[in-house]
Amino acid sequence: MLDQLNAIEKDALAGLNAAADSAALEVWRIQHLGRNSALMTILGDLGKLSKEERPAIGKRGNEVKKALEDALAAKAEALRRAEMERALTAGAVDVTLPGRPIARGRLHPATQGLRKMYAVFAEMGFQVYRSREVETDDYNFTYLNIPPHHPARDMWDTFHTLTPGVILRTHTSPGQIRAMREYCPEPIRVILPGMCYRYEQPDARHEIQFYQIEGLAVGKHITFSDLKGTLSDFARRLFGQKVRTRFYADHFPFTEPSAGMDIECFLCGGRGCRVCSGTGWLEILGGGMVHPAVLRNGGYDPRVYSGFAFGMGPQRITMLMHRIEDIRHFLANDLRFLEQF
Ligand code: DAH
Repeated sequence: MLDQLNAIEKDALAGLNAAADSAALEVWRIQHLGRNSALMTILGDLGKLSKEERPAIGKRGNEVKKALEDALAAKAEALRRAEMERALTAGAVDVTLPGRPIARGRLHPATQGLRKMYAVFAEMGFQVYRSREVETDDYNFTYLNIPPHHPARDMWDTFHTLTPGVILRTHTSPGQIRAMREYCPEPIRVILPGMCYRYEQPDARHEIQFYQIEGLAVGKHITFSDLKGTLSDFARRLFGQKVRTRFYADHFPFTEPSAGMDIECFLCGGRGCRVCSGTGWLEILGGGMVHPAVLRNGGYDPRVYSGFAFGMGPQRITMLMHRIEDIRHFLANDLRFLEQF
């Protein structure tokens, strides 16, 4: 039986030399060290041997097993190295080649535009006040001096939710009431940016979902000149020192008096072109002095306090700045559009 063990060892080690890859190694392992191999059968049957034979055979059997296991480990390591060596030479890297460009993300053009405007307002001392997109009918209309059933509500085509009295805000103006109720009786100087929703037919200038930036200042000595000064300064900081602005009378239920502001068309310099429909002027926002009823709804006594407010469509402004001809591009997620910014 000792001869048999010697033969097993010799035979197995010779076979191991021939194994050329890890698959062959595994076949070899099963054949020589597996449960049904000759060696394992001998070791498993030790109990059947006579007392005299058992120690010598057992000792030699374990030696052979250890020798085969060691040889297997060494061979596996050698194969691994050879494989790595081969992979390194085959796939040698030329470090002098230029790298592959990594595609980097960027901010959405609407966000880029918003951030420019936030920065201008921040320079002018306006804080950002975030307010909810799902609003109550009261905040969106009633507290802004637009009572239930009043025809002025027709100015805003509204998305209603299944809960009566709960709607998607049609403008950022309800945030005025929330800011006033939070800060009263302190003075306020905030912008309220965010998404608004209107149940409208989308076209090149209208989307059912769009941004607004609302502005609100409340204090004891705020006048219409402050509104005009703030908005003209905003326009100059955003569009350049030379840009001209003009104000005209307008109407909003939540301001009295109300105004609109145009900027001189920066595409044609005021001569008249397609973008400004030949007028030389671009309408960019509405505003006015906060209506006494609105101040009262915010908690401020209109005999002591006054304020101005305004609202603008930052995407419209971004469209003008980049000559984007259709507001629907902002939500279409077409990379050919987005990658231009
Ligand atoms: N909320 C108005 C709209 O969506 C815009 C607006 C006009 C806001 C005048 C104001 C304002 O704060 O004073 O049409």
